[in-house]
Amino acid sequence: MKKKKKSVFDFFEMKKKGEKISFITCYDYPTALLAEEAGFDMLLVGDSLGMCVYGYEGTVPVVMDQMIWHAEAVRRGAPNTFLIGDMPFLSYQKRWDEAVENAGRFIKEAGCDAIKLEGGRRVVDKIKAIVDAGIVVMGHIGLTPQSSVQLGGFKAQGRTAESALELIKDAIAVEKAGASFILLEAIPPQVGKVITEMLSIPVLGIGAGMYCDGQLLIVHDLLGLFKAFTPKFVKRYADLDKEILRAFKEYIKEVKESAFPQEQHTYTMLEGEWEKLEKMLKETDIKEEFKK
Ligand code: KIV
Repeated sequence: MKKKKKSVFDFFEMKKKGEKISFITCYDYPTALLAEEAGFDMLLVGDSLGMCVYGYEGTVPVVMDQMIWHAEAVRRGAPNTFLIGDMPFLSYQKRWDEAVENAGRFIKEAGCDAIKLEGGRRVVDKIKAIVDAGIVVMGHIGLTPQSSVQLGGFKAQGRTAESALELIKDAIAVEKAGASFILLEAIPPQVGKVITEMLSIPVLGIGAGMYCDGQLLIVHDLLGLFKAFTPKFVKRYADLDKEILRAFKEYIKEVKESAFPQEQHTYTMLEGEWEKLEKMLKETDIKEEFKK
């Protein structure tokens, strides 16, 4: 049976009932097919693809076109899962009209259901403008990778009472600006709990503890495909790198030993055609013909 795509309304109901939201990043078509089949509630085409897929050191170099191409592919693989496009660095920070334009591209060109952007009080004008254009917004506060240099690196946030209070103010401002969701990244669970209880919108967490309304993980972290850097909040559910390496090495070995391909991997000629070709090759010196 075809899966029914969840709506914003469904996610609000899940929060009310205490039903947790499952959330994962996704960057390509084959993974999207599997994510939809597994039954995730929502998918994020995160700008973390800059690190996981393109091998950049951070998310800053990612541009809008890249995000749209990946979001389109994910949408084709997961047509019935709530899909969020992540606004890359400088696609929304400069001007509200540019923010609306770029947010609109995720909806019009890639078929996303919502967009996500980083920042609290300092981006409320952009959130308001995007929401006014009729687009669903997910805010993102705490460790915000696009401004990680300002934050002193990829570090947990809200670990002092003062900084936790600033986060709580940011969360309230994001909800007030009209966002339908907020994502909290790398903050202590107590702070995640206060925000989750204080807001009426669903609160998703990545490294924000067990009290959030839902949990996000980066797909490459979960599957064991990205091991250059593993934040504390990651739980690895598989070691696919080992399995891929094993398969690659076995393939190389079989090619070298002429053990691959075998009969079952080859195509047969039509009845009588091989004999015909043999005769033709005997009758003409084909190499000589090419010399002419
Ligand atoms: O880009 C992304 O995947 C994100 C997560 C790190 C929250 O924004």
